[in-house]
Amino acid sequence: MPQTIQTETLLNNAAGYARAAQIWRDGGLVALPTETVYGLGADAANDIAVARIYEAKGRPSFNPLIVHLADLEAVKALVRWNDHAEKVADAFWPGPLTMVLPLRDGAGLSKLVTAGMATLAVRMPAHPTARRLLAEFGGPVAAPSANRSGHISPTRADHVMADLNGRIEAVLDGGPCESGLESTIIGLTDVPTLLRPGHVTREALSQVLGLPVAQRHDTDAISAPGQTASHYAPNARVRLNAVDWALGEARLGFGDVDCDLNLSASEDLTEAAANLFEYLHRLDDAGATTIAVSPIPHLGLGVAINDRLTRAAAPRD
Ligand code: TXA
Ligand code: MG
Repeated sequence: MPQTIQTETLLNNAAGYARAAQIWRDGGLVALPTETVYGLGADAANDIAVARIYEAKGRPSFNPLIVHLADLEAVKALVRWNDHAEKVADAFWPGPLTMVLPLRDGAGLSKLVTAGMATLAVRMPAHPTARRLLAEFGGPVAAPSANRSGHISPTRADHVMADLNGRIEAVLDGGPCESGLESTIIGLTDVPTLLRPGHVTREALSQVLGLPVAQRHDTDAISAPGQTASHYAPNARVRLNAVDWALGEARLGFGDVDCDLNLSASEDLTEAAANLFEYLHRLDDAGATTIAVSPIPHLGLGVAINDRLTRAAAPRD
Protein backbone atom coordinates (compact mmCIF):
# COMPACT_ATOMS: atom_id res chain seq x y z
CA MET A 1 0.00 0.00 0.00
CA PRO A 2 1.38 3.44 -0.88
CA GLN A 3 1.88 5.59 2.20
CA THR A 4 -0.13 8.77 2.27
CA ILE A 5 2.03 11.74 1.40
CA GLN A 6 1.37 15.41 2.04
CA THR A 7 1.00 16.74 -1.51
CA GLU A 8 2.37 20.28 -1.92
CA THR A 9 0.98 22.78 -4.39
CA LEU A 10 3.94 24.67 -5.87
CA LEU A 11 3.64 28.11 -7.36
CA ASN A 12 4.67 29.00 -10.87
CA ASN A 13 7.81 30.91 -9.83
CA ALA A 14 11.56 30.38 -9.28
CA ALA A 15 11.06 28.89 -5.81
CA GLY A 16 8.44 26.49 -7.21
CA TYR A 17 10.76 25.32 -10.03
CA ALA A 18 13.67 24.84 -7.61
CA ARG A 19 11.51 22.77 -5.25
CA ALA A 20 10.08 20.65 -8.09
CA ALA A 21 13.55 19.90 -9.48
CA GLN A 22 14.77 18.97 -5.99
CA ILE A 23 11.87 16.55 -5.53
CA TRP A 24 12.72 14.93 -8.88
CA ARG A 25 16.39 14.61 -7.86
CA ASP A 26 15.25 12.95 -4.64
CA GLY A 27 13.20 10.41 -6.61
CA GLY A 28 9.80 12.00 -5.97
CA LEU A 29 6.78 12.71 -8.18
CA VAL A 30 5.76 16.19 -9.32
CA ALA A 31 2.83 16.91 -11.63
CA LEU A 32 3.65 19.62 -14.14
CA PRO A 33 1.60 21.65 -16.61
CA THR A 34 2.17 21.23 -20.35
CA GLU A 35 0.20 22.82 -23.19
CA THR A 36 -1.70 19.53 -23.66
CA VAL A 37 -2.55 18.12 -20.21
CA TYR A 38 -0.82 17.93 -16.81
CA GLY A 39 1.90 15.26 -16.68
CA LEU A 40 2.98 13.17 -13.69
CA GLY A 41 6.74 13.61 -13.85
CA ALA A 42 9.65 11.68 -12.38
CA ASP A 43 13.36 11.24 -13.11
CA ALA A 44 13.37 8.88 -16.11
CA ALA A 45 16.72 7.41 -15.07
CA ASN A 46 15.53 6.39 -11.60
CA ASP A 47 13.85 2.96 -11.47
CA ILE A 48 12.15 3.50 -8.15
CA ALA A 49 10.84 6.94 -9.12
CA VAL A 50 9.40 5.55 -12.38
CA ALA A 51 7.89 2.57 -10.57
CA ARG A 52 6.18 5.05 -8.27
CA ILE A 53 4.47 6.68 -11.27
CA TYR A 54 2.74 3.37 -12.04
CA GLU A 55 1.85 2.91 -8.38
CA ALA A 56 0.42 6.43 -7.98
CA LYS A 57 -1.66 6.09 -11.16
CA GLY A 58 -2.77 2.59 -10.27
CA ARG A 59 -1.76 1.44 -13.75
CA PRO A 60 -2.51 -2.26 -13.94
CA SER A 61 0.42 -3.04 -16.22
CA PHE A 62 3.61 -1.42 -17.39
CA ASN A 63 2.62 0.76 -20.28
CA PRO A 64 5.50 2.77 -21.76
CA LEU A 65 5.84 6.43 -20.81
CA ILE A 66 6.66 9.57 -22.77
CA VAL A 67 10.01 11.17 -21.92
CA HIS A 68 10.00 14.97 -21.85
CA LEU A 69 13.08 17.00 -22.71
CA ALA A 70 13.93 20.67 -23.04
CA ASP A 71 16.29 20.55 -26.03
CA LEU A 72 17.08 18.62 -29.18
CA GLU A 73 20.60 17.58 -28.19
CA ALA A 74 19.19 15.81 -25.15
CA VAL A 75 16.59 14.04 -27.34
CA LYS A 76 19.24 12.83 -29.79
CA ALA A 77 21.24 11.32 -26.92
CA LEU A 78 18.32 9.00 -26.17
CA VAL A 79 16.96 7.97 -29.58
CA ARG A 80 18.31 7.16 -33.03
CA TRP A 81 17.38 10.25 -35.01
CA ASN A 82 16.37 10.13 -38.69
CA ASP A 83 15.33 12.44 -41.55
CA HIS A 84 11.63 12.10 -40.82
CA ALA A 85 12.21 13.06 -37.20
CA GLU A 86 14.24 16.08 -38.30
CA LYS A 87 11.40 17.35 -40.50
CA VAL A 88 8.75 16.76 -37.87
CA ALA A 89 10.83 18.44 -35.15
CA ASP A 90 11.52 21.44 -37.40
CA ALA A 91 7.84 21.93 -38.02
CA PHE A 92 6.23 21.05 -34.68
CA TRP A 93 8.71 21.21 -31.78
CA PRO A 94 8.47 22.48 -29.20
CA GLY A 95 4.78 21.59 -29.21
CA PRO A 96 1.96 19.11 -28.65
CA LEU A 97 3.59 16.24 -30.53
CA THR A 98 5.35 13.03 -29.45
CA MET A 99 7.62 10.91 -31.67
CA VAL A 100 8.33 7.21 -31.20
CA LEU A 101 11.88 6.39 -32.30
CA PRO A 102 14.42 3.59 -31.76
CA LEU A 103 15.92 3.73 -28.28
CA ARG A 104 19.69 4.17 -28.25
CA ASP A 105 21.83 1.59 -26.48
CA GLY A 106 23.15 3.02 -23.27
CA ALA A 107 20.55 5.81 -23.10
CA GLY A 108 20.58 5.29 -19.35
CA LEU A 109 16.82 5.30 -18.81
CA SER A 110 14.94 3.08 -16.43
CA LYS A 111 13.63 -0.01 -18.26
CA LEU A 112 10.22 0.73 -16.81
CA VAL A 113 9.99 3.88 -18.97
CA THR A 114 9.87 1.83 -22.16
CA ALA A 115 8.28 -1.22 -20.54
CA GLY A 116 11.20 -3.12 -22.02
CA MET A 117 10.46 -2.06 -25.62
CA ALA A 118 13.18 -1.13 -28.12
CA THR A 119 11.51 2.20 -28.91
CA LEU A 120 11.08 5.40 -26.92
CA ALA A 121 8.40 8.09 -27.03
CA VAL A 122 9.96 11.58 -26.81
CA ARG A 123 8.36 14.97 -26.55
CA MET A 124 9.59 18.56 -26.31
CA PRO A 125 6.72 20.56 -24.81
CA ALA A 126 6.16 24.25 -25.62
CA HIS A 127 4.62 25.29 -22.30
CA PRO A 128 7.00 27.85 -20.75
CA THR A 129 6.60 26.38 -17.26
CA ALA A 130 7.35 22.86 -18.47
CA ARG A 131 10.41 24.14 -20.32
CA ARG A 132 11.69 26.06 -17.27
CA LEU A 133 11.22 23.01 -15.07
CA LEU A 134 12.89 20.62 -17.50
CA ALA A 135 15.83 23.01 -17.89
CA GLU A 136 16.13 23.40 -14.13
CA PHE A 137 16.16 19.62 -13.65
CA GLY A 138 18.52 19.07 -16.57
CA GLY A 139 17.62 15.44 -17.35
CA PRO A 140 14.89 13.38 -19.03
CA VAL A 141 11.53 13.42 -17.22
CA ALA A 142 9.10 10.53 -17.72
CA ALA A 143 5.51 11.75 -17.55
CA PRO A 144 2.21 10.12 -18.36
CA SER A 145 -0.94 12.17 -17.92
CA ALA A 146 -1.40 13.00 -14.21
CA ASN A 147 -4.61 11.07 -13.60
CA ARG A 148 -5.50 7.75 -11.99
CA SER A 149 -5.56 4.99 -14.55
CA GLY A 150 -8.78 5.04 -16.57
CA HIS A 151 -9.81 8.53 -15.43
CA ILE A 152 -10.02 11.66 -17.57
CA SER A 153 -6.75 13.51 -18.21
CA PRO A 154 -6.26 16.62 -16.04
CA THR A 155 -6.19 20.08 -17.59
CA ARG A 156 -5.95 22.00 -14.29
CA ALA A 157 -3.94 21.61 -11.08
CA ASP A 158 -7.13 20.96 -9.09
CA HIS A 159 -7.99 18.00 -11.38
CA VAL A 160 -4.60 16.54 -10.45
CA MET A 161 -5.26 17.12 -6.76
CA ALA A 162 -8.71 15.53 -6.97
CA ASP A 163 -7.16 12.34 -8.39
CA LEU A 164 -3.68 12.12 -6.84
CA ASN A 165 -3.67 14.07 -3.56
CA GLY A 166 -1.74 12.02 -0.98
CA ARG A 167 -0.04 9.89 -3.67
CA ILE A 168 2.48 12.35 -5.12
CA GLU A 169 4.90 14.87 -3.61
CA ALA A 170 3.70 17.97 -5.45
CA VAL A 171 1.79 19.60 -8.26
CA LEU A 172 3.10 22.76 -9.87
CA ASP A 173 0.14 24.99 -10.66
CA GLY A 174 0.62 26.53 -14.08
CA GLY A 175 -3.06 27.34 -14.68
CA PRO A 176 -5.33 25.64 -17.24
CA CYS A 177 -3.77 23.79 -20.19
CA GLU A 178 -4.23 25.64 -23.43
CA SER A 179 -4.71 22.72 -25.82
CA GLY A 180 -6.52 20.34 -23.48
CA LEU A 181 -5.95 17.09 -25.44
CA GLU A 182 -2.99 14.75 -25.11
CA SER A 183 -0.23 15.13 -27.71
CA THR A 184 -0.37 13.64 -31.19
CA ILE A 185 1.84 10.52 -31.29
CA ILE A 186 3.63 9.60 -34.51
CA GLY A 187 5.68 6.43 -34.90
CA LEU A 188 8.84 7.11 -36.94
CA THR A 189 10.74 3.87 -36.51
CA ASP A 190 9.53 2.61 -39.88
CA VAL A 191 6.73 3.87 -42.13
CA PRO A 192 5.48 7.10 -40.46
CA THR A 193 2.34 6.05 -38.59
CA LEU A 194 -0.12 8.04 -36.55
CA LEU A 195 -0.44 6.26 -33.18
CA ARG A 196 -2.70 8.81 -31.45
CA PRO A 197 -4.51 11.74 -33.05
CA GLY A 198 -4.08 15.18 -31.49
CA HIS A 199 -3.64 18.86 -32.22
CA VAL A 200 -1.09 18.21 -34.92
CA THR A 201 -3.23 16.45 -37.51
CA ARG A 202 -2.32 13.55 -39.79
CA GLU A 203 -2.78 15.89 -42.77
CA ALA A 204 -0.30 18.41 -41.34
CA LEU A 205 2.23 15.62 -40.68
CA SER A 206 1.79 14.17 -44.19
CA GLN A 207 2.41 17.59 -45.68
CA VAL A 208 5.61 18.16 -43.70
CA LEU A 209 6.94 14.66 -44.46
CA GLY A 210 5.91 14.80 -48.11
CA LEU A 211 4.27 11.37 -47.93
CA PRO A 212 1.03 9.92 -46.59
CA VAL A 213 1.17 9.11 -42.88
CA ALA A 214 -0.30 5.68 -42.16
CA GLN A 215 -3.12 5.28 -39.71
CA ARG A 216 -2.72 2.88 -36.84
CA HIS A 217 -5.41 0.21 -36.72
CA ASP A 218 -6.49 -1.12 -33.36
CA THR A 219 -5.42 -4.62 -34.33
CA ASP A 220 -1.86 -3.61 -35.24
CA ALA A 221 0.76 -5.21 -33.03
CA ILE A 222 2.81 -2.00 -32.90
CA SER A 223 -0.10 0.00 -31.51
CA ALA A 224 0.47 2.32 -28.55
CA PRO A 225 -0.15 -0.12 -25.74
CA GLY A 226 -2.11 2.46 -23.75
CA GLN A 227 -4.70 2.84 -26.44
CA THR A 228 -7.16 0.41 -24.94
CA ALA A 229 -10.71 1.19 -25.89
CA SER A 230 -11.88 2.60 -22.56
CA HIS A 231 -9.07 4.90 -21.59
CA TYR A 232 -10.52 8.35 -20.98
CA ALA A 233 -13.49 7.48 -18.91
CA PRO A 234 -15.57 9.71 -16.67
CA ASN A 235 -17.71 8.00 -14.02
CA ALA A 236 -20.84 8.77 -16.00
CA ARG A 237 -21.89 6.79 -19.07
CA VAL A 238 -21.25 8.70 -22.25
CA ARG A 239 -23.67 8.76 -25.21
CA LEU A 240 -22.28 10.11 -28.47
CA ASN A 241 -23.82 11.95 -31.42
CA ALA A 242 -26.84 12.99 -29.36
CA VAL A 243 -29.23 15.10 -31.42
CA ASP A 244 -31.85 15.13 -28.71
CA TRP A 245 -31.65 14.64 -24.96
CA ALA A 246 -33.30 12.03 -22.77
CA LEU A 247 -34.75 13.00 -19.43
CA GLY A 248 -32.10 13.22 -16.71
CA GLU A 249 -29.12 13.23 -19.07
CA ALA A 250 -26.40 15.82 -18.65
CA ARG A 251 -26.15 17.61 -21.97
CA LEU A 252 -22.73 18.44 -23.41
CA GLY A 253 -23.38 20.48 -26.52
CA PHE A 254 -21.52 21.73 -29.55
CA GLY A 255 -22.82 24.55 -31.73
CA ASP A 256 -26.16 26.25 -31.48
CA VAL A 257 -27.91 23.87 -29.06
CA ASP A 258 -29.66 24.15 -25.72
CA CYS A 259 -27.46 22.24 -23.24
CA ASP A 260 -25.84 22.20 -19.79
CA LEU A 261 -22.33 22.97 -20.99
CA ASN A 262 -21.34 23.92 -24.53
CA LEU A 263 -17.94 22.81 -25.85
CA SER A 264 -18.14 25.65 -28.35
CA ALA A 265 -21.30 27.54 -29.21
CA SER A 266 -19.51 29.00 -32.25
CA GLU A 267 -18.41 25.50 -33.46
CA ASP A 268 -14.74 26.31 -32.91
CA LEU A 269 -12.89 22.96 -32.62
CA THR A 270 -9.88 24.48 -30.84
CA GLU A 271 -12.15 25.90 -28.16
CA ALA A 272 -13.99 22.55 -27.93
CA ALA A 273 -10.71 20.63 -27.46
CA ALA A 274 -9.59 22.99 -24.71
CA ASN A 275 -12.93 22.58 -22.89
CA LEU A 276 -13.48 18.84 -23.38
CA PHE A 277 -11.83 17.29 -20.31
CA GLU A 278 -12.72 20.24 -18.05
CA TYR A 279 -16.41 19.88 -18.95
CA LEU A 280 -16.42 16.09 -18.58
CA HIS A 281 -14.86 16.60 -15.13
CA ARG A 282 -17.51 19.17 -14.23
CA LEU A 283 -20.50 17.08 -15.33
CA ASP A 284 -19.03 14.09 -13.53
CA ASP A 285 -18.51 16.11 -10.35
CA ALA A 286 -22.12 17.29 -10.58
CA GLY A 287 -23.15 13.61 -10.33
CA ALA A 288 -24.38 13.01 -13.88
CA THR A 289 -25.15 9.36 -14.58
CA THR A 290 -25.19 9.81 -18.37
CA ILE A 291 -23.52 12.53 -20.40
CA ALA A 292 -25.01 12.96 -23.87
CA VAL A 293 -22.72 14.70 -26.33
CA SER A 294 -23.62 16.55 -29.52
CA PRO A 295 -22.05 15.33 -32.79
CA ILE A 296 -18.59 16.80 -33.42
CA PRO A 297 -17.49 17.23 -37.06
CA HIS A 298 -14.89 14.56 -37.94
CA LEU A 299 -12.28 16.78 -39.55
CA GLY A 300 -9.13 18.56 -38.43
CA LEU A 301 -8.97 18.66 -34.65
CA GLY A 302 -12.42 17.02 -34.56
CA VAL A 303 -10.69 13.67 -35.28
CA ALA A 304 -8.77 13.88 -31.98
CA ILE A 305 -11.84 15.07 -30.06
CA ASN A 306 -13.92 12.19 -31.43
CA ASP A 307 -11.10 9.75 -30.58
CA ARG A 308 -11.21 10.80 -26.91
CA LEU A 309 -15.03 10.83 -26.85
CA THR A 310 -15.22 7.36 -28.39
CA ARG A 311 -12.88 6.07 -25.68
CA ALA A 312 -14.94 7.78 -22.98
CA ALA A 313 -18.05 6.05 -24.36
CA ALA A 314 -16.45 2.58 -24.84
CA PRO A 315 -17.74 -0.31 -22.75
CA ARG A 316 -15.89 -0.60 -19.43
CA ASP A 317 -14.48 -3.80 -18.07
O1 TXA B 1 0.20 15.19 -24.05
C1 TXA B 1 0.74 14.16 -23.65
O2 TXA B 1 1.27 13.34 -24.41
C2 TXA B 1 0.77 13.93 -22.13
C3 TXA B 1 1.69 14.98 -21.53
C4 TXA B 1 1.87 14.84 -20.05
O3 TXA B 1 2.92 14.96 -22.19
N1 TXA B 1 1.20 12.61 -21.81
C5 TXA B 1 0.45 11.51 -22.03
O4 TXA B 1 1.03 10.34 -21.55
O5 TXA B 1 -0.62 11.56 -22.57
P1 TXA B 1 0.21 8.97 -21.40
O6 TXA B 1 1.14 8.02 -20.69
O7 TXA B 1 -1.07 9.21 -20.74
O8 TXA B 1 0.06 8.47 -22.85
C6 TXA B 1 1.21 8.07 -23.57
C7 TXA B 1 0.85 7.08 -24.64
C8 TXA B 1 0.39 5.74 -24.09
O9 TXA B 1 -0.76 5.34 -24.79
C9 TXA B 1 1.55 4.82 -24.39
O10 TXA B 1 1.14 3.51 -24.61
C10 TXA B 1 2.15 5.45 -25.62
O11 TXA B 1 2.04 6.82 -25.40
N2 TXA B 1 3.56 5.14 -25.78
C11 TXA B 1 4.56 5.45 -24.94
N3 TXA B 1 5.73 4.94 -25.37
C12 TXA B 1 5.46 4.28 -26.52
C13 TXA B 1 6.24 3.54 -27.46
N4 TXA B 1 7.53 3.35 -27.29
N5 TXA B 1 5.60 3.02 -28.53
C14 TXA B 1 4.28 3.21 -28.71
N6 TXA B 1 3.50 3.89 -27.87
C15 TXA B 1 4.07 4.43 -26.79
MG1 MG C 1 -3.05 9.10 -20.15
